[in-house]
Amino acid sequence: MSKNSPVRLALVGAGRIGSNHAELVARHVPGAALVAVADPTPSADRLAADLDVAVVEHSAQALLDRTDVDAVLITTPARTHAELVVAAAAAGKHVFVEKPMAVTLAEADRAIAAADDAGVVLQVGFNRRFAPGWVAARAAIDTGRVGTPQLLRSVTRDPGPFSADPARIPPGTIFLETLIHDFDALCFLNPGARPVRVTALADALIRPDAKAAGHLDTAVVTVEFDNGAIATAEASFSALYGYDVRGEVFGSGGMVTAGDARATDMTYYGPDGIGVDTARRDTDLLRSAYLAEFVAFTEAIRSGTPAPVTGTDARTALSIALAAVRSASTRGPVEVADVLAEVTA
Ligand SMILES: NC(=O)c1ccc[n+]([C@@H]2O[C@H](COP(=O)([O-])OP(=O)(O)OC[C@H]3O[C@@H](n4cnc5c(N)ncnc54)[C@H](O)[C@@H]3O)[C@@H](O)[C@H]2O)c1
Repeated sequence: MSKNSPVRLALVGAGRIGSNHAELVARHVPGAALVAVADPTPSADRLAADLDVAVVEHSAQALLDRTDVDAVLITTPARTHAELVVAAAAAGKHVFVEKPMAVTLAEADRAIAAADDAGVVLQVGFNRRFAPGWVAARAAIDTGRVGTPQLLRSVTRDPGPFSADPARIPPGTIFLETLIHDFDALCFLNPGARPVRVTALADALIRPDAKAAGHLDTAVVTVEFDNGAIATAEASFSALYGYDVRGEVFGSGGMVTAGDARATDMTYYGPDGIGVDTARRDTDLLRSAYLAEFVAFTEAIRSGTPAPVTGTDARTALSIALAAVRSASTRGPVEVADVLAEVTA
């Protein structure tokens, strides 16, 4: 890659979020070009045609073998991520991987080691860190305006009505794929603190008929940090009013909040009263955050600086998620140290 040529990005996984990311990097990220798309299904061909991308591959490895690709965006299902990160790093490609980076700590360690060994950038898709409200909240914390964080809160409510087939949702998804955003956000908003203890309560309140098969669609998790802060994260798979993502930090010196269920700050006044619009999709509510994370990824590659969201950040969020999975089934607190110890045992 020469200094003035664009970073040549390729997409692995042309599904729902991959299509969103491909459109952003193809059309809106300065200094980046989308040069290839890989997916075993015809969605790769459709997406490449929509975005005028010349190269389509139907296997990830075929794409990784190409010499005209500098970096990959991995947007495949969660359980394939770590293996693809390892393969991409081995091929010398910089890697952006959607959350969760891995679903076990051993896999997370392999992914981090592979990127370190290859000397490639590894960035993980915790896009909330790039949303303007979260960026401003973190700045207020960094400059001392909130004082010492004491209570933190993070909320994710997916837009309803919930229509997915519970049987097709892997066990632990509410912790490993939904609340993982909140676990990372809580760490981001409590900088330098380590999670110590996790207690989770989860149920199938939206689809109680699927509970016996292990389905969980509603959860509250408390996370105790080593600086004394107490955090809660909560998730629901069915908010009828739209996609709802919010965070809050209350400290000794003040409070910050970030995020909103409102799509914009517009308020409509009409004959039936006053109302606001909500977003039905994460890709609408957080569009600027998704775009900013790809601008940052491209910049990290160009400048040779570390990614702003690292594999280690992803490992920390995963350790909380795994503790929450265990706590929800044992119905008691789980020490994060116990979860971490198992990987080194
Ligand atoms: N950061 C966010 O806000 C956000 C939002 C949505 C989804 N996600 C994450 O993105 C990931 C994908 O989610 P999705 O909803 O787009 O899933 P999806 O099922 O819509 O798409 C996944 C795509 O990957 C393809 N695929 C599977 N294995 C592959 C392989 N080995 N090589 C190439 N392609 C392969 C599938 O054919 C499919 O087209 C998940 O981990 C999810 O948690 C993140």
